[in-house]
Amino acid sequence: MPPITTIEDLRRIYQRRVPKMFYDYAESGSWTEQTFRENTSDFDQIRLRQRIAVDMTGRSTTSQMIGEDVAMPVALAPVGLTGMQSADGEIKAARAARDFGVPYCLSTMSICSIEDVAEATNQPFWFQVYTLKDDDFMTRLMDRARAANCSAIVITVDLQVLGQRHKDIKNGLSAPPKLTAKSIANMATKVPWGLGMLRTKRRFFGNIVGHAKGVSDPSSLSSWTAENFDQSLDWDRIKQLRKMWGGKVILKGILDAEDAKKAVAVGADAIIVSNHGGRQLDGALSAIRSLPAIMDAVGDKVEVWLDSGIRSGQDVLKAVAMGAKGTMIGRAYIYGLGAMGQKGVTTALEVIQKELDTTMALCGKRDINEVGRDILLIPKNFQGEWQ
Ligand code: GLV
Repeated sequence: MPPITTIEDLRRIYQRRVPKMFYDYAESGSWTEQTFRENTSDFDQIRLRQRIAVDMTGRSTTSQMIGEDVAMPVALAPVGLTGMQSADGEIKAARAARDFGVPYCLSTMSICSIEDVAEATNQPFWFQVYTLKDDDFMTRLMDRARAANCSAIVITVDLQVLGQRHKDIKNGLSAPPKLTAKSIANMATKVPWGLGMLRTKRRFFGNIVGHAKGVSDPSSLSSWTAENFDQSLDWDRIKQLRKMWGGKVILKGILDAEDAKKAVAVGADAIIVSNHGGRQLDGALSAIRSLPAIMDAVGDKVEVWLDSGIRSGQDVLKAVAMGAKGTMIGRAYIYGLGAMGQKGVTTALEVIQKELDTTMALCGKRDINEVGRDILLIPKNFQGEWQ
């Protein structure tokens, strides 16, 4: 096999090795997928300013996110069903993140449970919270995250209802996968994936099954979220959840400057400019295009991070240069996980760090914390003129 040099290399291997149902789950956006596509293509519109004859020795990509030291300003985003991409996928991803020195955020809709990941990594991680109607469940979920030594919660604020992803409906997405002639025929061609799944007992939503009372079988993400997610989630409820947790809170899914101001008002420790990887409101602006207005509104009041569309270290650098203190990657590491398990996640992180470091150097910077807007060439109409 030729050496892996890009995230795209990992995606291609991933596509061959993982059942179509789970590949499609990761690699889709909602409706027409316009926002999903623009999340990446808008990064390409920003150019970099080459600088020369600057001493490039002693470079560093280390930084901090909510006061935690990071080897580079990149965290692994919460991704539902990660343990279906590779057996015990959340444990593998969390271990790769720990060994690399970047944060890992576990999803509420993970296959491995909070307790599984805590036991396997022995290191604080972040826990992403979906707000369910069942208050007892929410209280217990926070207690469990506390007991597992989670150092922050990430409340997702853009998914009270699920954006429709056509492929998931057509594939009958579920965890574990439903055994139909079509799914069996496809899985039969993914032998190492299948053997891994047979060897683990973790094939269900580990944070839900056995923990949420009186709810129907959560194997189908779309019908389960429709029934159980709290559609009434509002700023008062976010305040309550912050109180319930009592520690650091990150709000994920902010795309509008007005919402960013409200997030600051409820006391968020960081906000994530994100459109959920183009999986929620199709037709919304890309994350990178949304960033400047949010930086103008709250950049001096709260840590602003960005996810949605990052596939390279250059994308990380562009987001940081535009003011983001941190970034999150989702698909970029899921490709690695599906391609090669824990080692693939490490490879994804290595690819990104190398691109980040080299690009930073060629832009004349040695320290990621000194990178600013001056290294970018942003088209005049980048934010767009909307009315
Ligand atoms: C869940 O967060 C999803 O985007 O599928």
